[in-house]
Amino acid sequence: MLELAVRDLADADLADCSFAGSPLHLEQVAKELERARRGEVDYLAVCAKADLPIAIGGVDYVPHPGAGSLWQLAVHPALQSCGIGTLLVAAAEQRIRDRGLDRAELSVEVTNPRARALYERLGYVAYDEQLESWDQQGPDGSITRYETLCTQMRKQL
Ligand SMILES: CC(C)(COP(=O)(O)OP(=O)(O)OC[C@H]1O[C@@H](n2cnc3c(N)ncnc32)[C@H](O)[C@@H]1OP(=O)(O)O)[C@@H](O)C(=O)NCCC(=O)NCCS
Repeated sequence: MLELAVRDLADADLADCSFAGSPLHLEQVAKELERARRGEVDYLAVCAKADLPIAIGGVDYVPHPGAGSLWQLAVHPALQSCGIGTLLVAAAEQRIRDRGLDRAELSVEVTNPRARALYERLGYVAYDEQLESWDQQGPDGSITRYETLCTQMRKQL
């Protein structure tokens, strides 16, 4: 059994977070850590005993006033399907409650049914679909705009 702890993600962790995405993605996460210092988001790390992150994910309090929006959830590929994502979601929901809020929101790509099934098991209910887009970096370093249809889900905490 892995002994896991959840804490705030720190700048120094980013060098160990390549499992979560491209260098461009990690640059964007670094900017989110600046927002975390201003209190606009919580950014969490699930760490194994050596205090190295094996999963990360954020809660943004800006997009849906009165709710926390879970986003950028990523579990190390070698450790997926072991319950770590469930632990991360529970910790994120606790951060939302700690701010006196009672609703969690998230958005999942329609092409990611496994993640959606997990969120449904955890009590999230789909209520809308929206086209979303963001910059994506390929293995050769090139950056392209990625557009995708996402299901909006929410949960009363
Ligand atoms: C989506 C994601 C965050 C979920 O995290 P995870 O750690 O894999 O999720 P969990 O292990 O808690 O639950 C998922 C699965 O494990 C199973 N599971 C949960 N606890 C378990 C345990 N203790 N032992 C064995 N299996 C378990 C669940 O039944 C579920 O089954 P599935 O693999 O058939 O879907 C992760 O898979 C991930 O990073 N994926 C790539 C990026 C991504 O899609 N992010 C989400 C964007 S919205």
